[in-house]
Amino acid sequence: MKILSKSIQLRSLFSSILLLISLTILGQSPTEQWRPSIHFSPKMNWTNDPNGLIFFKGYYHLFFQHNPKGNDWGNMSWGHARSKDMLHWEELPIAIPHGDEYIFSGCVVWDKEHVSGLGDPNKDLLVAIYTADYPNKKQEQHLAYSNDEGLTWKKYAKNPILDIQLLNFRDPNIIWHQASKQFVMSVAKPLERSVQFYGSKNLLNWELLSEFSNQGELDMIWECPSLVELPIAGKEQESKWVLFNSSQGVQKGFVGMQYFVGEFNGKTFINENPRETKLYVDFGKDFYAAIPFYQTATKDVLWLGWALSWQYAKEQPTYPWKGQMSSLRKLSLIDTQEGLRLKQEFQPDFNLVEPSFQAKDLSISKPKILSGIKLLQGKSYLIDLEVEESRGDRWGLRWQSLDNPQEYTLLVFDEIKKQWSIDRSHSGKILSPGFFKVDAANLVEGKPKHLKVLVDHSMLELLAQDGTVAISSLRFPLSSKENLSIFSENGKLDLKQITIWEVK
Ligand code: FRU
Repeated sequence: MKILSKSIQLRSLFSSILLLISLTILGQSPTEQWRPSIHFSPKMNWTNDPNGLIFFKGYYHLFFQHNPKGNDWGNMSWGHARSKDMLHWEELPIAIPHGDEYIFSGCVVWDKEHVSGLGDPNKDLLVAIYTADYPNKKQEQHLAYSNDEGLTWKKYAKNPILDIQLLNFRDPNIIWHQASKQFVMSVAKPLERSVQFYGSKNLLNWELLSEFSNQGELDMIWECPSLVELPIAGKEQESKWVLFNSSQGVQKGFVGMQYFVGEFNGKTFINENPRETKLYVDFGKDFYAAIPFYQTATKDVLWLGWALSWQYAKEQPTYPWKGQMSSLRKLSLIDTQEGLRLKQEFQPDFNLVEPSFQAKDLSISKPKILSGIKLLQGKSYLIDLEVEESRGDRWGLRWQSLDNPQEYTLLVFDEIKKQWSIDRSHSGKILSPGFFKVDAANLVEGKPKHLKVLVDHSMLELLAQDGTVAISSLRFPLSSKENLSIFSENGKLDLKQITIWEVK
């Protein structure tokens, strides 16, 4: 893994120290103990959805919904950050500021052939297409372009590029569709639970191709759609199309994401499952509005999401920022007994570097504190754990506060219910009654009980069973120190191995 140059690190350390000193003088206490270090969060102020994800000229670019002036939703503009290694994020100046219109979610594409005819024909051209929101009036799709690798943007003089006179019409996401040689945009009509597809040769004129609606999860509005072709794991030549959107999640009343698997023929998306089938991306409450990168350094499809929930985002007790992004994850589909399912893998690949701790053939009968490594709260690490055999009823991991016996977080596999879960009902600060509802996902039959959990200060992300089970949950411990143990109740747990990578 490459590390950003020393001068950037020093500059960013210096500005963070200055920021902390000035905030302390202003009388508000920063909550840096909860700030993730390898996941992006803005230095100051509010963020929600990731926007305009693209790998371009050595950098992963992340634009994000941002309030440049406050720690709550408002003044929506596009913030900007970039990373060379997917672990260290460098925050850059505001990319697209709001005017009379709020700059809502959208995407960035590389106009490689200069088909739009915008900007300087001798320089690389990036095109951002996003929703312009005129509060309580209308939502239209607008365009802005950049000739300096996304640092500065010019709003297109002839905006809007797409307007169907709707109050709710948003979150355009664009791919290049090679077979039909056109750009294809997916865009949501949220109240109608519908995604429209538009085609264009020049990114300026868009023609309606088809509409996909009323399938899957319908209880809440649909937002942030994206259409992507995913490889099928283990069958390198095969792929399928997947349509994602943000909707109600697996728990009633909480937002989440769903997906549909099928075919896209350049005009229409055909869901290959019955229309009532509901497929959820993540079984936690803190994964929303994810979109794929327009392109990546390899052929891999990568994405990331907003790691928070609209149901309690306002309550996130962090200062001077609010909101953060999930880990980057590589996407593919994988065969299961129930059909093709989404597989997610953490990026970058930690297996490429030396672990900090490893134990093989471990047998757990009473709780074992992982003492080979000091896993205090306020650290970032990845745990990889493979089960050989489990004879207990429940086994898992427990993060236990050293100051307060009543404060702990549990990651459990329940052998009786055949269920994975994260229980944060005693994890410290409780933001909403939603924290008392355990986040649970059913066992995927036939897949190994192999789990990876990425811990980054306030964030816990579980990817288990070949990446078919995902649970992302935030927690806000009140104590400063904790230990981590493995436990198994009413029977032994044999582990093939446990490996931990600490991110220094
Ligand atoms: C999703 C969303 C989008 C919208 C943006 C506004 O979280 O509601 O539909 O573009 O947030 O900030």
